[in-house]
Amino acid sequence: MYYKRIITDDVYYVGESDRRLERFENMFELPNGVAYNSYLIVDEKTALSDGIDETVSERYYENIRFALDGRDLDYLIVNHVEPDHCSSINNVLREYPQAVMVITQKGLQFMEQFYNLDYRDRVMIVKEGDRLDLGKHQLEFIMAPNVHWPEVMVTYDHTDKILFSADAFGAFGAIEGHLFADQVNFERDWLAEARRYYINIVGRQGASVMRLFKKLEGKDINLIAPLHGLVFRTPDMISMILEKYTKWATYEPEEQGVVLVAASMYGDSQNMNDILAAMLADRGVENIRVYDVSKTPVSAIIADLFRFSNAVFTCLTYNTLLYPGMDALMRELVMLNYSNRRISYLENQSWGGRALDIAQEIFSKSKNLEVVGEPFKIKSSVAPEQMDDLLKLADEIAASV
Ligand SMILES: [Fe+2]
Ligand SMILES: [Fe+2]
Repeated sequence: MYYKRIITDDVYYVGESDRRLERFENMFELPNGVAYNSYLIVDEKTALSDGIDETVSERYYENIRFALDGRDLDYLIVNHVEPDHCSSINNVLREYPQAVMVITQKGLQFMEQFYNLDYRDRVMIVKEGDRLDLGKHQLEFIMAPNVHWPEVMVTYDHTDKILFSADAFGAFGAIEGHLFADQVNFERDWLAEARRYYINIVGRQGASVMRLFKKLEGKDINLIAPLHGLVFRTPDMISMILEKYTKWATYEPEEQGVVLVAASMYGDSQNMNDILAAMLADRGVENIRVYDVSKTPVSAIIADLFRFSNAVFTCLTYNTLLYPGMDALMRELVMLNYSNRRISYLENQSWGGRALDIAQEIFSKSKNLEVVGEPFKIKSSVAPEQMDDLLKLADEIAASV
């Protein structure tokens, strides 16, 4: 766009949004698209922080040219080598032959693995605490391994107190005019997609996120500029997102509440979930979500499982084993370190099978999942004489929320 998007006096937003991509990482639905953020510092020396995905790069190159206004590019800072940020980098290096790529040693290794090119004459390898003087802006590089990938670093601008935070603090969702979190109703319109992004993409790496936060303690941060989603520039917004991230990264629930994840072929297991949900409502549980694992995108279910304190999983029998959608969901939860939650089981089988055993086996690899109540089991459909057992489970769950 021939229009400058100003972050601070001489720092410009040059990123782009993709509203065509169906799935991020070919897995995660993007109902509102996704933004690939990139920032240009125009100082005595010019520096571009990160690239974007090749799918929307034509506009991106135009944005850079326009913001540079005839200047050359001196540095290309690569905080993260995942192709959603780096597939444009080779073209940028071609267009600006004097630009030097500022990157970690591991980042260089990954660039070579992905693109089979020789960058030896074009790199400045940086490590923990190294600095880059752009004239007015003094940048410091802080290693952030595994916030998302092992090569990741973040860049701190001592001058404007900006944290270029790589994937941390990102969100799904295209930019809709407003670039800054304080310009929108973030909690209403963006938080769920920030949560879904973090939990599903970076969720496994909570310990690494907390290690980065420890390193950032004592640094004044006036502005957080992530690689996806909105920019945070007010103390309120910065402390809000830091607070959320601390919960997510330490696997603590944000709120008390019960997520019932149903799996149902003909509606009988769904009925069991609906009855339990009604009982929980009547017992004063405020936050209740009922999802069908075959209907709601798994990434959204997972995000809410991390949001709330309790969950109920339906172990539906399928070919004598656990219903595939539920099996996959549970394994993904273990992969993402789902822990510190209270869970309960429902089971439906008509003539045998190991659905509940398999579910329990899967979750035995997860840490600190407290099972509430006895698994409630039905054969094909809920029978009226079972209501007392279901009421007992509802009592126990409600008492634990
Ligand atoms: Fe990433
Ligand atoms: Fe990313």
